[in-house]
Amino acid sequence: MTTTTQVWTRRHILSLMDFSVAELDMILQTAVSFRDVLSRRMKKVPALQGQVVTNMFFEPSTRTRSSFELAAKRLSADVMNFSPSSSSLSKGETILDTAKTYLAMGADIMVIRHKQSGVPQAIAQEMDRIKSGVSVLNAGDGRHAHPSQALLDLFTICRVIDPDNPSCALLKDKKIAIVGDIVHSRVARSNIWSLMAAGAEVHLAAPPTLLPEFFRDFAQGSDGKLFVHWEIDEAITDADFVMTLRLQHERMTAHLLPSLREYHQGFGITAKRLKSCKPDVKVLHPGPVNRGVELASDIMDHPALSLISEQVTNGVAVRMALLYLIGSSKKT
Ligand code: NCD
Repeated sequence: MTTTTQVWTRRHILSLMDFSVAELDMILQTAVSFRDVLSRRMKKVPALQGQVVTNMFFEPSTRTRSSFELAAKRLSADVMNFSPSSSSLSKGETILDTAKTYLAMGADIMVIRHKQSGVPQAIAQEMDRIKSGVSVLNAGDGRHAHPSQALLDLFTICRVIDPDNPSCALLKDKKIAIVGDIVHSRVARSNIWSLMAAGAEVHLAAPPTLLPEFFRDFAQGSDGKLFVHWEIDEAITDADFVMTLRLQHERMTAHLLPSLREYHQGFGITAKRLKSCKPDVKVLHPGPVNRGVELASDIMDHPALSLISEQVTNGVAVRMALLYLIGSSKKT
């Protein structure tokens, strides 16, 4: 399937913190093949036939959950969907026991989302401890990480530059602004790792309540790859890509903003603001969007500016690539 000679060695995908450029490139190349598959009339391949993928989403999700489900089905895996409200969790079963129940039914790959950071890692550790051979794919844990989202963002950005041969090298010296609720965002954290590894210049922008000082300490050790701004202008001037983030009301424990209107005035992405970016700037958002808050409605729907639908389409190909890489490395 892939054109690369490298061998995939990871059993789990929990965070992108230690991903190498070679690994990122391998995912990008594999996703290219699957994007081709998804544009055919026959959109299915037998790559994971006989393998069981369990979608264990302990937190609400529309696109990530459907995207993983479709990706697994396109690879011919058997898919089991778990939803906490109708499961034995409501009868007091622990998450590890739920995972072991799926293991006993033959699960090969567990795709896990949880509002608590670290849950996918805890399950992966237990699966390794009992030598189950199960792979865990983190589909978003608390504020910690959302690797598949950052990888589909990387794929989407690289495909704008070279649709046939997306690779990290294309991002060298590109300016990418990440604007919005960074403190609560696992999407931002994962993107920071992958975009920096790829060689992009990453500029974070948010009011101080959503972008605490410790990000600046982190930026200081980043070798000129990460920058922190408490005002938007410097972050987006000459940017090649602007990634916007949702205000995560469900994770806000205090009133961190005076009002949504003021937030939009200070940090909302509008046509006027985008004028200071590169002329061919593109806008990303992981969804769901608070229309008119972090992103003006007309930008969201703008076919030449917005990559939002492209991100969703690419999400299936990238998740197929991830399931394929960890699923096929199992047989060896
Ligand atoms: C993101 C998430 O759940 O972290 N959404 C997604 O996966 N598409 C971002 C968000 O919820 O704002």
